[in-house]
Amino acid sequence: MKVLLIGGGGREHALGWKIAQSPNLTKLYLAPGNPGLNRLGEKLSIPENDLEAITAFARENEIDLVVVGPEAPLADGLGDKLRAAGVACFGPDASAAQLESSKGFMKEVCAAAGAPTAAFGQFSEQAPAKAFLREQTPPYVIKADGLAAGKGVVIAETLDEADAAVREMLSGQFGAASASIVIEEFMAGEEASFFAITDGTSIVPMIAAQDHKRAFEGDKGPNTGGMGAYSPAPVFTPAVFERTMNEIVEPIVAEMRARGMPYIGVLYAGLMIKDERPRLVEINARFGDPECQILMRRMESDLLPVLYAAATGALKGASINWRDDAAALVVMATEGYPGAYKKGSLISGVNDANALSDVVVFHAGTKEENGALHAGGGRVLNVTATAASIGEAVARAYEGVDAIDWPEGFYRRDIAWRALERDA
Ligand code: AMP
Ligand code: GLY
Repeated sequence: MKVLLIGGGGREHALGWKIAQSPNLTKLYLAPGNPGLNRLGEKLSIPENDLEAITAFARENEIDLVVVGPEAPLADGLGDKLRAAGVACFGPDASAAQLESSKGFMKEVCAAAGAPTAAFGQFSEQAPAKAFLREQTPPYVIKADGLAAGKGVVIAETLDEADAAVREMLSGQFGAASASIVIEEFMAGEEASFFAITDGTSIVPMIAAQDHKRAFEGDKGPNTGGMGAYSPAPVFTPAVFERTMNEIVEPIVAEMRARGMPYIGVLYAGLMIKDERPRLVEINARFGDPECQILMRRMESDLLPVLYAAATGALKGASINWRDDAAALVVMATEGYPGAYKKGSLISGVNDANALSDVVVFHAGTKEENGALHAGGGRVLNVTATAASIGEAVARAYEGVDAIDWPEGFYRRDIAWRALERDA
């Protein structure tokens, strides 16, 4: 099978790493790939947002399956274009990707499907939004309707802060993405990310993971794309799994099908869990980053046939086997991230880390120049490890981190503290 993988972050490196192990793979193409990923296939000089070039390449080269990592090309209609050209695509059409690209749409689908989520109001004018805020209790949750690169959510402790967020978003802070906003009930609890693969009708559940969104230890500091992750997620008990499938994933997939927008790909349910009751915080139309890396480390089955079955409406009867081992991931980021940071610092020791048993390093934001590795972004490396327990997996991942020499990098030393505290 010839596969084209779209994207170039740590998530895509992990997907490519797993796909490359498939006996069903004949050739892997990467658009645009990254220095780690490029060792596993052929790098194309097609950027991930060039939908026309991707579609043309896939058609001309008789690609059997296109796997789309990031959300933006999906929201822009890459799935639609590929399917129209007769190419199988793992990833939803733009209409179904609205579950991620429009918070208002996601809320409307939840209401129709009866899926539990926070109560909300949607606004495009300041006065009614501010009036609605005054009927709520703090903390206030204000979200841009559209995609805002993970920056479109404000959790405000005071009415003043909440009013300011409403004012800024509705006066164009995120352009069209914040022309409309959602104000919703604050949900208390513990978060987990759960993933399920679907062809629009049949659903294959995956597993849950937890990530750390804040930059610094103790879950303090600014929000980031995620500084670490681990799985299993102790909060995601068998009872929570049952409720998540029955109350959230199955009704939403059925509702999308009923709307004539069958959802094809991976459904990422961002959950808030309290007293074993899951409620939806958000849906993403893609794998989580860095959660995907953890899933790929724990997955025993061949990924490629599952992705292909989902993309071709043949998922019925499929299942995925998972390793009993836990997995942990530590993000190594450039000093300064998520604020301003300098690119280009030299990194060494990645091969030493990879040589440790059960350690795999994924590239998230690296650059290769004259055979040397440099930092090329904020989140740069994902050091993963598997072991019999979360504690051992975390310890092993830090052995990998310790093997890497990168003075300009930083990372959190407390990945999985919540899970480890439970065990203690
Ligand atoms: P989102 O982009 O919708 O995932 O929101 C980013 C983060 O904000 C989530 O991961 C939660 O930590 C937090 N959050 C969003 N909505 C809520 C809510 N209604 N109640 C509590 N926390 C929330
Ligand atoms: N790890 C959070 C996300 O992928 O959105």
